[in-house]
Formats: sequence, structure tokens, C-alpha cells
Amino acid sequence: MNTPQAASLEPATQATTASEVVVSVRGLTKVFKDFWGRPKARAVDGVDFEVRRGEVFGLLGPNGSGKSTTVKMLLGLLHQTKGHIEVFGHSPRHVLTKSRIGYLPEESYLYRYLNSGETLDFFGRLFELPAGERRQRAEQLIEMVGLSQARTRSVGEFSKGMQRRIGLAQALINDPDLIILDEPTSGLDPIGCREVKDLILALARRGKTVILCSHLLADVEDVCDRVVIYYGGRIQAMGPLGDLLANRESVRITTPALPRETLRQVLEVIRRDVAEDKIRVDNPTQNLESYFLEVVRQARANASATSGATSDNRVAAYLRADASPEKAGDKLLERLTQARPAETAPAPSPVASAPVPALETGRLAALTGKSPAPAPVETAPAVSAPAPAREADLKQANEKLSALLGKKPQ
Ligand SMILES: Nc1ncnc2c1ncn2[C@@H]1O[C@H](COP(=O)(O)OP(=O)(O)OP(=O)(O)O)[C@@H](O)[C@H]1O
Ligand SMILES: [Mg+2]
Repeated sequence: MNTPQAASLEPATQATTASEVVVSVRGLTKVFKDFWGRPKARAVDGVDFEVRRGEVFGLLGPNGSGKSTTVKMLLGLLHQTKGHIEVFGHSPRHVLTKSRIGYLPEESYLYRYLNSGETLDFFGRLFELPAGERRQRAEQLIEMVGLSQARTRSVGEFSKGMQRRIGLAQALINDPDLIILDEPTSGLDPIGCREVKDLILALARRGKTVILCSHLLADVEDVCDRVVIYYGGRIQAMGPLGDLLANRESVRITTPALPRETLRQVLEVIRRDVAEDKIRVDNPTQNLESYFLEVVRQARANASATSGATSDNRVAAYLRADASPEKAGDKLLERLTQARPAETAPAPSPVASAPVPALETGRLAALTGKSPAPAPVETAPAVSAPAPAREADLKQANEKLSALLGKKPQ
């Protein structure tokens, strides 16, 4: 969890302070209307919250409670019906604001015949990163998300977890200051999940702000500083997780194992104030995730045969450097929202009337250190996409970029 102590170790970015409000939402309301302008769904209803720099903020709630609608308004992809939103002190539609946001949508939007490096290069060009920097970042990100072994394969062949990983890499290519992740750990194996969570924490320690939508409450509990819980478009609960989850009716004292006599004496003292049937003495249990990770760690230490996943939790070097708020491609997200590869895009979402986040796949991923590459990746042929299809994808991506950047195709 992001701690004040950890945050204080990080240098402040230009014109920011540890308590900077990155996102401010007041009275936010979104009513979807039907063809005749009649209210159809009140997706978000009078919501207020703030997210500060370096926080990991969880957006929770059942299906249809308004999380994605809120995120789309934060990204400037949907207009609110009422209320006020500021991101980095500006409207979410401000181009500089957009360039500082990374977004990992629930579904990836990728050119299926491009490989990992080409995919990241495409998005790096949207941000107008110089060629050398694009290459360097792509290398570091591919390594970080554990796809080195699969770098020459087409992303269209990737498993769900692998697509999530390249999506995360794509989301981080512009080194965003605010990272919005929609179900970042969905489809990832337990090691990948842990790494994504560690990456989120590492990013937050470096002063990045993370907003996380997830139905995986254990993951939320592991990384979030504060959460809001939606129901029916309204906030039902909000606060630091420690406050929301603390049971103030009980006290727990944890010590190393005690000699029997010491324990007897302690219980004797407690029984003076508390009825016998209210006292519980047991051994704390670890959660399944830490148990699983320990088993894998031991297996590695014993050099057991493995399908090849390796992990060292490294964060891409450029993400370890402190980010300047003014850096980066002014047109980024703007372009991203127009750059979605048409032929591979999933069916239009219910909000298709708004510019769809092209990149929806993107920005955030940075999450984790390198995660173990899934086994099939290592044994697959180097390039399996049919050459004409791959050529067509490259050509189309190049043309799209040229159109967006106003340059001749390269
Ligand atoms: N474009 C749209 N047109 C009409 N209604 C919409 C549109 N987009 C979302 N809604 C409605 O708004 C409400 C909130 O949807 P939203 O996608 O924000 O929920 P969510 O909390 O993200 O759910 P999930 O956990 O399933 O992703 C739902 O009732 C949904 O049907
Ligand atoms: Mg949603």
C-alpha cells in the first residue's frame, strides 16, 4: 500500500506537491437519453470525490453501477449531464490533460497482425516520441510485462493474459501521470496479478496516481489507499480502506509463538475482563496468493522444471525516472481516441457515440515488473501471422498515423 513514508522518498514533480488534487469530481451526473431525448438510464447520480497525487484509488460497485461511465467522463470521452470534473486542474477535454493520462480499457483494441514491438511503436508514434526513445521504451516495457519471449508473435494470437500485458505496456508508453485501469488483472495468472499489483504500488510510490476499477476485491484490498463503492450510480461508501474495514469491536494482538506458560498467564489476565466464550486464540493464516507465490519461489530456488515464467519485478527504467507534468505529446490521447484499428475493434460499446478510446488499451499498463511469460509463448514460431495480413496491418497503421499526425506515410 502506498504509504506517506514511501511517497516522501520520491522527488516532487515540477509544480506538484504530495497533496496535489489530481482528480476532482463534484455533483457528477450522467443520464443516458433515448432517441427522443427521454431519460433512459441514470448511470451516475450526484457523485463527489477527489483523488490526490500518488494515491491508488479504487472504483468499486456491482455491474451497471456507473464505474465505466464515470471513467469515460474522467477521460473526456463522455459529457456529463450535470456536475463538474477537473483533471490536473483542467477540463478532461484539455489536450495537455489527455496527454498525461494512461488508460487500460476492459477490452484491448489492437492491430492483430502487428507484434509487440510494432504495437508499442505505433502508439509511441501517436505520442510523437522520437524513434530512439520509442525503441527504448518498447524494449523496457516488453521486458517489464514479461513478453520478451513472445516479442515477434502477432498480438492477435496472444492469450487473454498476454493481451492484458501488452495492453498494460501500451498504456504506459507515454509515461502518464494518471493511470486509469479497468480490470487490469483480469485474465492474468497469480504471478502476473501480483506483479501488476506491485507495479501499481511502484508507480504510486513514484508519484503517479492510479484509479482502478475491479471486481477482484482481494486485489483492491492489496493496492488501494482509498475506495468508493457505487450502487445505482451513487456513492454508498467512501474512505481509506483501513477505516472502512477496521472492526473496532475487537482487538488483535499478534506475537511470535509463545511458551505455553506465558500464554496461560496472558489468558488469565484477559479473562478478568472478557467472558471465556468471547476469547479466540489461533494461528494467523496467510492468504492463498502468498502461499502460492511461496510455492513457486521454492520451486524456482530448487531449479524445478518450469514452463518458463520468470519474474524479477523490474519496472521499466524510464518509468523509474521522475516525470515532468509538462512532458509529452500534447495530442496523445486525442489521437489515441481516433486511432483504433477498425478491423480488429470489438463491437461498438454502448457509448459509441463518444469517441472511443482508441487506445483504450493502453496507457496504463505499466504496471508491473516483468511477469512470467506464459508457456506457449516460448515454443511458438517466431512470426506466425500470414505475411499479406501483416503487411496490410502495418500499412493501415502507418496510414492511420499519417492521417492523425498530418504527415505523409513513411
Ligand atoms: N451508452 C449508453 N446508453 C445507455 N445506457 C448506458 C450507456 N452506457 C452505460 N449505460 C447504462 O449506465 C449504467 C451504468 O453502466 P456502466 O457501464 O457505467 O456500469 P459499470 O459499473 O461499469 O458496470 P460493469 O461492472 O458491468 O462494468 C447501466 O445501467 C448501463 O446500462
Ligand atoms: Mg464497466
